[in-house]
Amino acid sequence: MCGIFGYISQKPKSDPASFLVEGLKRLEYRGYDSWGIVYGEKPVLLKQAGKISEAAIGHRPLAVGQSALAGLGHTRWATHGGVTDENAHPHLDCFGRVAIVHNGIIENWEELKKDLRRKNHEFRSETDTEVAAHLIEEQMADSEWRTASLTEAVRQVFNRLEGFNAIAAFFPEAQTIVAFRSGSPLIAGVGEGECFLASDIPAFLPYTRQVVFLEDGEGAVLSPELQVQNGTLGIKILEAKTGRERPTKVERISWRVEDVDRGEHPHFLIKEIKEQPQVIARLAEYPKKEIEGVADLIENAFGSYFVACGTASNATLAATYLFSGIAKRHINFTVGSEFSFLEDFLTPESLLIAASQSGETMDTLEAVRAAKRHGSKVVALTNVLGSSLTRLADETLMLNCGPEKAVLATKSYTAKLALFLLLAYQLNGKLSEGREVLAETAKGISDLVAKDFEEQIRALAGRLRKVEHLYAIGRGVNYATALEAALKIKEVSYIHAEGFAGGDLKHGPIALIEPKVPVLIFASDDESEAEIVSNAMEVKARGADVIGINYRNNQVFETYLPVQKNGFYTPLASIVYPQLMAYYIALEKKLDPDKPRNLAKSVTVK
Ligand code: AGP
Repeated sequence: MCGIFGYISQKPKSDPASFLVEGLKRLEYRGYDSWGIVYGEKPVLLKQAGKISEAAIGHRPLAVGQSALAGLGHTRWATHGGVTDENAHPHLDCFGRVAIVHNGIIENWEELKKDLRRKNHEFRSETDTEVAAHLIEEQMADSEWRTASLTEAVRQVFNRLEGFNAIAAFFPEAQTIVAFRSGSPLIAGVGEGECFLASDIPAFLPYTRQVVFLEDGEGAVLSPELQVQNGTLGIKILEAKTGRERPTKVERISWRVEDVDRGEHPHFLIKEIKEQPQVIARLAEYPKKEIEGVADLIENAFGSYFVACGTASNATLAATYLFSGIAKRHINFTVGSEFSFLEDFLTPESLLIAASQSGETMDTLEAVRAAKRHGSKVVALTNVLGSSLTRLADETLMLNCGPEKAVLATKSYTAKLALFLLLAYQLNGKLSEGREVLAETAKGISDLVAKDFEEQIRALAGRLRKVEHLYAIGRGVNYATALEAALKIKEVSYIHAEGFAGGDLKHGPIALIEPKVPVLIFASDDESEAEIVSNAMEVKARGADVIGINYRNNQVFETYLPVQKNGFYTPLASIVYPQLMAYYIALEKKLDPDKPRNLAKSVTVK
């Protein structure tokens, strides 16, 4: 859950520190509690706790004036060792001849560290990562520090590390970067006279759209020596297990720089909330062939399972209602981290439908790997081309909602709902009707993100900013909406928010209702409307501040937020309100809407 970014260049960068920091800032959604960079032959190392977006490089005298042909950086989401300057990456060996950055967890780090301590290695940090630097030092003890032996040393060390990891080693003397991955993502970029390595494409998108995706168990060597050998291409791809080189397959990606920039928006969160109408309108035109392909897999499966985490999981829960309601088809639902208890039911006739914006969420990938082991088919819904999930899946439906950089998933949630609706309508043979309603829904949502509505939500947020607790209830597909609404609000405002099934209220949660506590009521024009309005009455009777989201008002609602009369499509619009509420409450509380505490955009560890 960290961000890695490095470069080598034929011409030295005049301000390598700022170059590395700008790249890391474009990866900050991956982890932002501390950061560090290293560059140059006489290596300059800068690292500290805190958000890199608040770091002012120019002011640190060390940084200015030393150009460099190569450098490496890291933005961290702490797993092992507190958030301190020492624990920030890069980590050095005893003599500062290799600097390591890492994403993942080295599960056997303690025994490796004990062994290295016995060999008198001095450790400066509490991290698992630092052992890799000392292991490479050990490996290089009798070798020449040239690219070939450096590559071999990192490969040998990587193969000793247990767990899902991506490590990148920077060798100042050789101005070379050697990296390997298993589980945690790494991508190389090929530019004019320069090459890049990163955890995700946005880091080097301003410089190139030519990328090389590294498979699990592969590595990359970026070295000036290779540049001489290969002319412009200073990069080599090889297998971790064997060290064998594989052809460097360069692919062109469609993302544009402006897609990963905030543009005129103050935050990525509000930008991405406001992009939803175009995203959904675009999905209404989704290629028929791809929808048909996946619908056939669902049709022919004997036992289908949804698996996902967090917001993606709420989208798959909503989908279970859409498939049973629209296509009269049952699909099992499980959260990613609990799937292992279910995998024994998988057979070669089973189908696993894995949803993940990043395509890198470890618990979801583990479920997919389990399905592959059982010979089951895997369908993926994801937003990141070349992500691990796309490499494991048999069929992939791209969400095509453009890069999602705010930690809070918003447009990727509604994009998933839109694709699930089209699949359900394809299964009941009414795809064109499904498309029409989706296009209509997109228009309706553009009203919700329009200026005057926003003002109303901003005012509501002002009223809610001081509350300690907030609840959301819904029935049927709106139960999933209630869970997602609570998740959005708790993630970015730190208010204790919980979602309940309306029918569950009287079995316990109603005990939490006290005067003035806000309760969001998600209703729609279906058979559950009357029941959820009764639930609203029950909480109102105990003094709750009832906020109703429905196609029609009701006197029980203290505040009424209208949505279109849209049956199964209602959740696509209803969720926009709590997304906006979460955003404006965060602003009211002077919190960072894009980078909430303790979170990261994709959870690449179990
Ligand atoms: C949602 O706002 C969170 N960022 C988180 O719950 C997220 O949905 C979850 O980690 C799954 O991520 P994925 O869709 O990239 O797999």
